[in-house]
Amino acid sequence: YENIKVEGQQTAELTAPPFVPKPVGDRAAMKLVVNMEIKEQEGEMVDGVKYTYWTFGGSVPGSFIRTRVGDEVEFHLKNHPDNKMPHNIDLHAVTGPGGGATSSLVAPGHEKVFNFKTLNPGLYVYHCATAPVGMHIANGMYGLILVEPEGGLPPVDKEYYVMQGDFYTKGAYGEPGNQPFDMNKAIKEQPDYVVFNGSVGALTGDKSLTAKRGETVRIYMGNGGPNLVSSFHAIGEIFDKVHIEGGDLINTNVQTTLIPAGGAAIVEFKVDVPGTFILVDHSIFRAFNKGALGMLKVEGDDNKKVYSGTIQEGIYLPEGGTIQNMPKVNGTSKPTVAKTVAQQISSGKELYGRTCFACHQGEGQGVPNAFPPLAKSDYLNADADRAVNAILHGLSGEITVNGKKYNNVMTSQNLTDEEVADVITYVYNSWGNNKTVVSPAKVKALRA
Ligand code: HEM
Ligand code: CU
Repeated sequence: YENIKVEGQQTAELTAPPFVPKPVGDRAAMKLVVNMEIKEQEGEMVDGVKYTYWTFGGSVPGSFIRTRVGDEVEFHLKNHPDNKMPHNIDLHAVTGPGGGATSSLVAPGHEKVFNFKTLNPGLYVYHCATAPVGMHIANGMYGLILVEPEGGLPPVDKEYYVMQGDFYTKGAYGEPGNQPFDMNKAIKEQPDYVVFNGSVGALTGDKSLTAKRGETVRIYMGNGGPNLVSSFHAIGEIFDKVHIEGGDLINTNVQTTLIPAGGAAIVEFKVDVPGTFILVDHSIFRAFNKGALGMLKVEGDDNKKVYSGTIQEGIYLPEGGTIQNMPKVNGTSKPTVAKTVAQQISSGKELYGRTCFACHQGEGQGVPNAFPPLAKSDYLNADADRAVNAILHGLSGEITVNGKKYNNVMTSQNLTDEEVADVITYVYNSWGNNKTVVSPAKVKALRA
């Protein structure tokens, strides 16, 4: 492709994740002007945790660049005047010294320009390569550049852009406030966060990827690292095709594909049934405890030939779903002799230690940003029926407890009426709460 002639000139469309620019289709090679601006900006890693990201174009991962093989790229790298650090860019799609890094070191308020011709089709990572290189990458300075083959990649229904990254903060996971980068943890390769698209929950809830049943989805999946290799997997799906390492080789029928730090893969799959499909790094603690979990929501009619069964919601959830309960068997509690309040508290205490303690903690203190406190909880003390209902039917959505917001899921607890009465009576009679006493009859009434 070195001698391929270019026809015309265009300014490249750049997109923030999870979106990608339009396909190149069958256009000829051309001169493509890329205008990329580096911005250092504060963002949210997870509720209540602030992080200062360094970004290519204002997002993590940085803007997606889409080219065609043989294109002549004129790359303009700007460093925003409010930034504090010099930066540069190394694009793995570039044949040339430093992948462009040697020509692009730029101080805040300045711009550098360099040119390259795309010789090899494929999906490539780009990243900052300014010393300390690891720190610049760890702060979010990576993204993807796609070099499509002649004629373009085959069309699909949905295309998305996802990148994994590991983050190292002074505080442990969830510790609130502005968390600075921790160089020692980075050197030891012990991240507090492993996430898709820059933060915990960037691809869940309202921000989930979407598709309709029967569509083919293509994900341009990169790994910025700086350290970890990703075992990329979609729970409940099989990748029909994987462009291994983002190159020409296509593997088919893949369950989990390895994506090296500083590497990428193109995965494609047809969604045959509706439901929520969970994207994870299958090094699974990273998914459920460090954030490497995204969702693809597929809408459409059931396809019973492919899958049938009763669907229980909330099976794969981060953190709050760590301890799961069997669905309730509509059992009635066995008849018992009425207990005194002291007996209720003592059985309740024992039950608390087996059940609630895992999340709400030994002294009812909870876990910041994940599990609300039951100690001196204004939410608890305001409404006993509501508390009983949380145990019987579960609780989800945003609530405010002692001035702090929680937006998580508590699954319903599989307990008898008597057990619920005992445990909540124990909770109300501990840790400065208002000493409410709840009877099994009351629970029974609320269960209906
Ligand atoms: C919320 C009680 C078990 C996770 C609550 C609330 C109560 C409560 C009263 C309302 C908020 C507050 O007052 O702070 C209990 C009791 C349990 C139990 C008595 C044992 C029988 C669990 C377990 C988990 C859990 C095992 C974790 C797997 C949560 C979460 C919320 C919550 C995440 C907040 C839900 C939201 O954000 O909407 N719990 N809980 N709970 N609980 Fe539990
Ligand atoms: Cu940099």
